[in-house]
Amino acid sequence: MLTSQYLFAACQAGAQNALKQEVEFRAPEWRLSFSRPGFVTFKAPGPVSLASEEIPRMTFARTRGLSLGKATGTDQLDELVGQVWASEQVQQLVAEHAPLAVHVWRRDEVVPGADGFEPGRDELSAMVRAALCAAAPEGALHNPQTPPSEGAVLDVALVAPNEWWLGAHLMKSRVDRWPGGVPNLKLPEDAVSRAYLKIEEALRWAALPTHAGDVWVEIGCAPGGASQALLERGMGVIGVDPADVDPLLDEHPDFMHLKMRAGDVRRKEFEPARWLACDVNAAPQYTLDAVEPIVSHREVSIRGMILTLKLPDWSLAEPAALDAIVKRVKGWGYKDVRLRQLAFNRRELCLAALRSRGQRRLRR
Ligand SMILES: C[S@@+](CC[C@H](N)C(=O)[O-])C[C@H]1O[C@@H](n2cnc3c(N)ncnc32)[C@H](O)[C@@H]1O
Repeated sequence: MLTSQYLFAACQAGAQNALKQEVEFRAPEWRLSFSRPGFVTFKAPGPVSLASEEIPRMTFARTRGLSLGKATGTDQLDELVGQVWASEQVQQLVAEHAPLAVHVWRRDEVVPGADGFEPGRDELSAMVRAALCAAAPEGALHNPQTPPSEGAVLDVALVAPNEWWLGAHLMKSRVDRWPGGVPNLKLPEDAVSRAYLKIEEALRWAALPTHAGDVWVEIGCAPGGASQALLERGMGVIGVDPADVDPLLDEHPDFMHLKMRAGDVRRKEFEPARWLACDVNAAPQYTLDAVEPIVSHREVSIRGMILTLKLPDWSLAEPAALDAIVKRVKGWGYKDVRLRQLAFNRRELCLAALRSRGQRRLRR
């Protein structure tokens, strides 16, 4: 059976230390092995199998799995591809789990949104993937045009042009199906702000059972990218922000702008809303203080939330600090509370909350 004592995780560039802290807390027996911005490996005390549940999901790990060595020593595409298929561990993965899916991604070198950078598919990863597929042994891979939703994945992380780290994971949930843990999203040309990408990713990850016709309240809605995405999905939005919103929103029949701070809104204005998003440019404590009186009000009935928690200071990312946030939100009656640093988050993370886990959309 394929095993490895090494585990890999992909994260945001700069989030390695937060991820290491999280590992120390959730898997204290693992030791840091290799670390670059956006890509880290750890050594477990003993061999870990692909099906093992020993690799916990982590807030700062976009994707993670067994590390299976690397292809290196040249920047010639064909030679690196040859090394991948010649790897004994990859051959064992194929023998035990074919047909495989292949995820190729480039590690993030800068924070998403900086210098126009967005994580996800790019020309280099597409070219490497095509070359790997073309050279794959017969029967090793799924038809690349029809990616499967279950089974094993061969991970190829392009850490440097001449250094590809190989790995494997099983697809058990949505995020496991996204190469490098990044959903396939592009910012539309008419997007009002990057927050469009964040809410789209949050909705895909969190599996909230929200549909066209639902009403959302968005605290901190200006200039309006997130509300724009919700409106495009056919939802109604009550946007709260003292700042101006883009005319695209102002003119939308399903958008209502309450041009004030959240604390100044009369609670009855929130009555039609069943969902709440909050993205204010302040520390997590301020965000929670703004949201709590709304969701705890007896005339307001919010089923679920997407909160952006800013991390102006990395100490806010310490596991104990994050656990305290989760505990506080659970205290408002939301039993299903999860945290993830989304691929399209900047120095911030996303909290998704539902009244109960049973409410999540079924297909994982
Ligand atoms: C990062 S921006 C929000 C981006 C927005 N979600 C989008 O989709 O474009 C943060 C916003 O939070 C607003 N804000 C800060 N404190 C607030 C409060 N207490 N109530 C409402 N809005 C607030 C600011 O005015 C600012 O427009």
